Amino acid sequence: MKLNDVRKSLKTEFENNNIDSIDADFIIAEVLNVSHTELNLIDEISNSQFQSIQDFAKERLQGKPIDKIFKKKYFYGLEFVVDENVLTPRSDSEILVEKALKIIKENNLKSVLDLCTGSGCLAIAVKKNANVDVTASDISTKALKIAKLNAKNLQAEINFIHSDMFDKIENKFDLIISNPPYIASDDIDELDLEVKDHDPRIALDGGELGLKFYNIIHNNAKKHLNENGYLILEIGDEQKYLVTSLFTDFNFIECVKDYGGNDRVLVFKN
Ligand SMILES: C[S@@+](CC[C@H](N)C(=O)[O-])C[C@H]1O[C@@H](n2cnc3c(N)ncnc32)[C@H](O)[C@@H]1O
Repeated sequence: MKLNDVRKSLKTEFENNNIDSIDADFIIAEVLNVSHTELNLIDEISNSQFQSIQDFAKERLQGKPIDKIFKKKYFYGLEFVVDENVLTPRSDSEILVEKALKIIKENNLKSVLDLCTGSGCLAIAVKKNANVDVTASDISTKALKIAKLNAKNLQAEINFIHSDMFDKIENKFDLIISNPPYIASDDIDELDLEVKDHDPRIALDGGELGLKFYNIIHNNAKKHLNENGYLILEIGDEQKYLVTSLFTDFNFIECVKDYGGNDRVLVFKN
């Protein structure tokens, strides 16, 4: 079977279903175990390769995102395992990592807590790029299993704690980072199917107004931050003023925009 024909017809099918045609190449390259550029060098594929491509294409056409089909996602240059129990890391969250690394280096910080770690992407990206002790926690044991697997695969030494927010956190830290669930409960039904049906609800639902977890962080962060410690939070669209107005007893340092120009990360100092 000619690869070019398969590629063309799959791209057309995806386009007709409002799916980015680049996903066709993702699937084919993954099945053939080659890079995207190498696809241009392949003439024929076998029947079994064709069948696998069809099977994955069917999942994609049913709305499953590519990262969840192949159970992997690149974040901050590292390959993470993802599944239905963790939020797929978003590239916009790399901005939080970037900011955390800058603050760690400029202030010679030694310890970091990542609350709501999910796949472990923030904690692991920080640990791989700074000489700090990193603790990471989540309420979901299934998410923590994936985070631990990622830490093992990426050889990052992280202290994982199973905890409902701060409940089982005992220490103080120089820096707390968090990307908590921040979608207002009533807005979840309006999210894209790819998010709503394939990222766990527990990773999305921030309660009424989406502020539940920022309130919990505000009420507990001072107890767990060293003097002059920092707090870096990812926020949802249009939450900048609501969240900063909760943290008036902290020094507001800055708000960093994401790649799309939206307010995405808030930095506070104790
Ligand atoms: C938006 S996801 C963030 C995942 C990851 N840090 C990232 O940036 O991709 C939020 C995470 O918060 C966790 N979570 C939800 N409720 C929690 C709670 N009460 N205590 C701790 N973690 C919680 C979810 O299991 C999920 O992994």
